[in-house]
Amino acid sequence: MQHSDFPWSRLQAHAASMPALQSLADDAPRGEQLRFDFAGLHLDLSRARIDIELLQLAIEGLQASGLQADRQALFEGELINDSELRPALHPLLRASTPTHERLAPMHAEIVAARSRMLQITEALRGGRGSEVGLIDARAVVNLGIGGSDLGPRLVCEALGDDRLPVHFVANVDGHAFARLAPRLPRETLFVVTSKSFSTRETLLNADSARQWLKGQGVADAELSRHFVVCTARPDRAERFGAAAMLPFAEGVGGRYSLWSTVGFAIAVALGATGFQDLLAGAEAMDQHFLQAPAARNLPVLLGLVHALDRALWHCPTRAVVPYDERLALLPAFLQQLEMESNGKGVDRRQQPLGIGVAPVVWGGVGTDGQHAYFQSLHQGVDVVPVDFLAPIRPDHALREHHNVLLANLLAQSAALCQGQELPPEDPLRAARACPGGRPSTVLLLDQLDAHSLGALLALYEHKVFVQSVVAGINPFDQWGVELGKAIASQIEPALAGDGEQRFDPTTESLLRRIRSVRADSAIQ
Ligand code: F6P
Repeated sequence: MQHSDFPWSRLQAHAASMPALQSLADDAPRGEQLRFDFAGLHLDLSRARIDIELLQLAIEGLQASGLQADRQALFEGELINDSELRPALHPLLRASTPTHERLAPMHAEIVAARSRMLQITEALRGGRGSEVGLIDARAVVNLGIGGSDLGPRLVCEALGDDRLPVHFVANVDGHAFARLAPRLPRETLFVVTSKSFSTRETLLNADSARQWLKGQGVADAELSRHFVVCTARPDRAERFGAAAMLPFAEGVGGRYSLWSTVGFAIAVALGATGFQDLLAGAEAMDQHFLQAPAARNLPVLLGLVHALDRALWHCPTRAVVPYDERLALLPAFLQQLEMESNGKGVDRRQQPLGIGVAPVVWGGVGTDGQHAYFQSLHQGVDVVPVDFLAPIRPDHALREHHNVLLANLLAQSAALCQGQELPPEDPLRAARACPGGRPSTVLLLDQLDAHSLGALLALYEHKVFVQSVVAGINPFDQWGVELGKAIASQIEPALAGDGEQRFDPTTESLLRRIRSVRADSAIQ
């Protein structure tokens, strides 16, 4: 893997001579060169802080940083996750044929696991779970967290058809399970989704699900028929006792795993055809990423714009604002995808990075956000680039609603860019002025369906990869999450009352407070 040779100083020198965004955006021929269509997605980059020359310099820089070789390594299953000596197999999960001949056996395993999964989920959707060794479920609950929750939950909430209700419990906070449980029928199937099958939160929720089933009168001998396990560690899950175990490979990253058997809940909620359409949309984007010239390649272009926003224009955060209620979880999904992938401080050679890679990703649905944080986007001191997204054709008949929705999206992107000046005599001139020059991208989907959603999510996966190539970092590990997990496992016995260990003064003080309030209350 090549260390990044991205020529930041050349880009900086050019950027210093660029006109303001308002004038760039007024340049109609430039705009025509910055609009792109693929797979029912329309990406408008005309309000990004780039001109054609800067974009060209960035493309050259990306190529010099090793895009070609890294992308090939990704698709050919090389050990591109070099700190864990693993490949990153998400493209293989949605490939109709192996992406390299060496991967043919692995591809065959993927296809076999998927057809088993779809056989099970179709039986469940038809009320015939008992035909595949499970119960005839009337509800399904996915127990998983992080990548074992966010991707499946996002897709189910966006496109699920409610033939069989699907719920999600991620948090170890007992309120999550305790609130859902009263609404569950006894005939509930729990899907324990954990790549590692060692995540404390998920295993505890699975244990509570088992206790709850017993409380509902399910006999011990019947319990296994209420559980499916989706994991890359069947060895660890064996003793759990689920009637079905659906494996996937260790080389599938958690946040890239919704395309694997981690997508069990998706297949329940969308059906086999929907799941396959999702994969097909992602595969189309994979092929586009592989084959389209850089100057028309959506993941390359979006990745470069985002990399420049972060490192050249020094924007520490980025807002993702889908104008679609069904995509409410997209900001949370992208938060994990981007911040867990590129929230790194050293490059592949373990040298400190001079510039940040992943911004803080946040956001929420439009138009709701307009009545909350958009004030700050328009007039706050920090410039926050925004990703606006919306479907052109909705799946409802409320035409006026959709006109209002789209009008608002278009207005917000224009307002952020154009800003507003007020006449000198206005006593509130400064307070009411909007500086403008604030960048955004607009991504319109012809409509939101499984195919376009698959393409959209794969677009973001690959644009995160592009940013990692610019910076020369490994986007597929996440060592930073381990320290907190380790400390939590040391503190847990102290809260359970059987720990001898002493901690730092702050933790000790907080533990004392917890113990004293507990001593005064019925809850221990
Ligand atoms: O804590 C981070 C993490 O490892 C994520 O990368 C992952 O998606 C999540 O936890 C859940 O992990 P698992 O699927 O192994 O339970």
